[in-house]
Amino acid sequence: MSIMKTIKIFDTTLRDGEQSPGASMNIEEKLRIASQLEKLNVDVIEAGFPIASDGDFEAVKKIAQTIKGPEIAGLCRANIKDIDRAWEALKYAGDRGRIHTFIATSDIHMERKLQMKPAKVLETAVKAVKHAVSYTPNVEFSCEDAVRTRLEFLAEMVEAVIDAGATTVNIPDTVGYSIPFEYFNIIKYLKDNVPNIDKAVISVHCHNDLGLAVANSLAAIQAGAGQVECTINGIGERAGNCSLEEIVMALRTRRDIMPFENSINTEHIYAASRLLSTVTGIAVQPNKAVVGANAFAHEAGIHQHGVLMDKETYEIMTPESIGLNANKLVLGKHSGRHAFVARLNELGYDLPKEDVEKAFVRFKSLADKKKEIFDEDLDAIVADEIIRIPEIVKLVQMNVSSGSFAAPTATVELEVKGKVKRVAVIGDGPVDATFKAIKKLTGMKPYLVNYSVGSITGGTDALGECTVRLEHDGHEVLGQGSHSDIIVASAKAYINALNKALDVAQRTRVEI
Ligand code: KIV
Ligand code: ZN
Repeated sequence: MSIMKTIKIFDTTLRDGEQSPGASMNIEEKLRIASQLEKLNVDVIEAGFPIASDGDFEAVKKIAQTIKGPEIAGLCRANIKDIDRAWEALKYAGDRGRIHTFIATSDIHMERKLQMKPAKVLETAVKAVKHAVSYTPNVEFSCEDAVRTRLEFLAEMVEAVIDAGATTVNIPDTVGYSIPFEYFNIIKYLKDNVPNIDKAVISVHCHNDLGLAVANSLAAIQAGAGQVECTINGIGERAGNCSLEEIVMALRTRRDIMPFENSINTEHIYAASRLLSTVTGIAVQPNKAVVGANAFAHEAGIHQHGVLMDKETYEIMTPESIGLNANKLVLGKHSGRHAFVARLNELGYDLPKEDVEKAFVRFKSLADKKKEIFDEDLDAIVADEIIRIPEIVKLVQMNVSSGSFAAPTATVELEVKGKVKRVAVIGDGPVDATFKAIKKLTGMKPYLVNYSVGSITGGTDALGECTVRLEHDGHEVLGQGSHSDIIVASAKAYINALNKALDVAQRTRVEI
């Protein structure tokens, strides 16, 4: 009987994923995501880029101290200072700590960005790996822009860093340029031409600029790669990374022709996807594979008929396999604490007692106004009451008058760094007046990039959800708020974005 090869799942939601515009997360939020990744049982969590900022460092350290199952990786450039700083945070994970160091290897990057000759780049990489190995044998080296690197040089580099002690070599498609056939051949070339290749795991890291990240990763696995780098919901630089849920479900669904195992507890996928959207405010498109709202919805009559007769007519995987419970339990005003907590747990929220209490109070008040409470309402409650705090700026109360004959006026009371302040401001409309009042009270002057409103569920009693994208001091941040009054939801979203902007400002990052 042949033993199936196991593909390691390396999740970089907290590092590459965080590089998505507006996706920056604070330590608390990163820890929540890391716990969910632990439940998913990923092999490696790339927790951040420790030298990038003090906030990144603290987050990596906290995750290394707290998370028990997966290995914890930290990214660093190929220099001594970055590596020392990374290990300083990673050492708390003991032998599960992984140093991930990288340097660009393509001609265009070496000439124009690094302004270094190939021989110098090779020497720098080897020196960095040797230094990393002095801390831990668990060292990953990435050849940034590997896909556009001359193959002979790529092979030379891979051989040298393995000799220096790297146990994982990553071959990224940094700019999302490759196609499956070409990427297969690159991995195959390395397998065939690097004499010591069997001493390391080949990793792949694909960006999705041409929508091919998952397809390329699958091709690489078929060519011999043993690790896939991916993110929840496929978030990441520009068009994002290979999506974890898609690659894992593709491997699982097509095991008939791809005989590979992985460690993922797929029934936690849906909760991971929702949690990430809630934390970052980045919604999943409805037609997104695996986790989109329509992924298991069979609208067309002919499909519905087929599914009712036999699920396998149109369903290649079950909603239950990703933790999506088809029999949604709807809560209402008579639902007790027990049913409420049970549903939260099913949705993947494992909250401490005091957070459950806060959420339950808000649930009861919503249930008084709204007949049925759906999962989406619970997400909004958890996001509003638990995830979006701690806040430097807090909404205390507000009142807005508007209509067709009086000037729209917003009276807003905020607590800013512990001090309560109130102001009344006239605007072009109720939202404009509200935002102007908040700006006046905080003294912040962000640029409003985008503002959108939606309803979380159907019906006129539905919770309104507002998303605000702001630019402040060169950073883009995304805020969300929900309330049955859409102007209050707008104020909450604006304040949430301001809090994120204040948090980001404290964590000045170095650019990769
Ligand atoms: O895309 C890339 O090349 C990266 C590396 C730093 C691994 O993210
Ligand atoms: Zn990347």
